[in-house]
Amino acid sequence: MNFNPVEIIRKKRDGEALSPEEIGFFIQEAAHKRIPDYQVSAFLMAAYFQGMNPRETSTLTRKMTESGEQITFPGGRPKIDKHSTGGVGDKVSIALAPLVAALGVDVPMVSGRGLGHTGGTLDKLESIPGFRTDLSTSDFVRIVGKTGVAMMGQSEAFVPADKLLYALRDVTATVECIPLITASILSKKAAEGISGLVLDIKTGSGAFMKKQSDAEKLAKSLISVGRQLGIKVRALITDMSQPLGQAVGHTLEILECIDMLSGAGPEDLRNLTVELAAHMLLLGGKSKSLAAARAAAHRALQNGAALQKFREMCSAQGARIDVTRHREALTVSPQTAIVSATKTGTVAKIDTRELGMALVDLGGGRKKTTDAIDASVGYLLHAKIGTSVRKGEPLLTVHYSRKSLETGGIDLHQILKRIEGAYCISKLKTARPKLIKKVILV
Ligand code: URA
Repeated sequence: MNFNPVEIIRKKRDGEALSPEEIGFFIQEAAHKRIPDYQVSAFLMAAYFQGMNPRETSTLTRKMTESGEQITFPGGRPKIDKHSTGGVGDKVSIALAPLVAALGVDVPMVSGRGLGHTGGTLDKLESIPGFRTDLSTSDFVRIVGKTGVAMMGQSEAFVPADKLLYALRDVTATVECIPLITASILSKKAAEGISGLVLDIKTGSGAFMKKQSDAEKLAKSLISVGRQLGIKVRALITDMSQPLGQAVGHTLEILECIDMLSGAGPEDLRNLTVELAAHMLLLGGKSKSLAAARAAAHRALQNGAALQKFREMCSAQGARIDVTRHREALTVSPQTAIVSATKTGTVAKIDTRELGMALVDLGGGRKKTTDAIDASVGYLLHAKIGTSVRKGEPLLTVHYSRKSLETGGIDLHQILKRIEGAYCISKLKTARPKLIKKVILV
């Protein structure tokens, strides 16, 4: 059926519900570049303001899934994935996927690029020299069959609708919208041929859902549509009131993942990774209890099994150098500046979105779809919520690049002031935030 895209945009702008035929037409035409980006962007903004009802959301998800190829695996090991709604320093997928694969559950993971103030798994992986995330569907299936894990992005052939919508939402301020997030995440997951999915739904200052009540609404939407698609879904509501781990920025985050896969790394990152792995192992039928699954995940991080699986994945996806043995092949900018505490007290709050936006200005994110990412810039956090600091002590080291600052016309001094302002230091004692706020088992 043929429709006028302008009328579809108008209907959504005026808060009317779209029919399955209208949604199907718009998505199919957009995915194949027959609707220009300016109309797709206008549609996204209309959906952002007017929302979509549950029926529209599930139709949008299905139509996006059907916009490209869909994988059916020929049996064998269980196929389980995890997806995060996005945060700052959220590098979990990069270590989690090989960790779970090392324990006998296949992880065919289709991820995204940077979105808004959050970094993207694909961009982070591409900071490994030679690592390819633009796999063909057949290569993806082959690598999963051989190594048990592969990580790729949407393409012109695979969920092309999400490839387009995702990139446009990133640069049109239309990310924080429950129906669009639901369709974006689940269209990828439905096309990837999995039977189970663990969702990491972030809440806090660095999440798209700042309030836990909104994160729970997002969980409800994802679980309901996931069920309709025949996927077993579990959701964890987790903290994003501060960056996860200590490293933020593409290369720095890969290095932190290697640390964790080598049995070290920050505690919050390790605990969350192990918890998500445990739920994936249960969904995949590989463990009888969460406690046993957690123990198995801890063992695989300590005994090198997860690190070995990460090496196999990198090599299968074209990495030219084993970065676990040659860390120097990962380029971190040597130009650094320290942001220090302006007073003595306890770190009470961090405006994590502001840290993410400052990183975009440093060159570590996109402002236009065509922008290149500078993977060498980022932060190392020395103080997180609950840490006592003295005036003048370092809060965070910024790795910046003069070249990227010049390209963006950005003043380093202003960035450092913004980062300083993102930290709230209080005379009162503040407890560390609870990492896992809620588990929703369906
Ligand atoms: N991850 C996605 O894949 N899509 C979103 O919209 C948010 C997080």
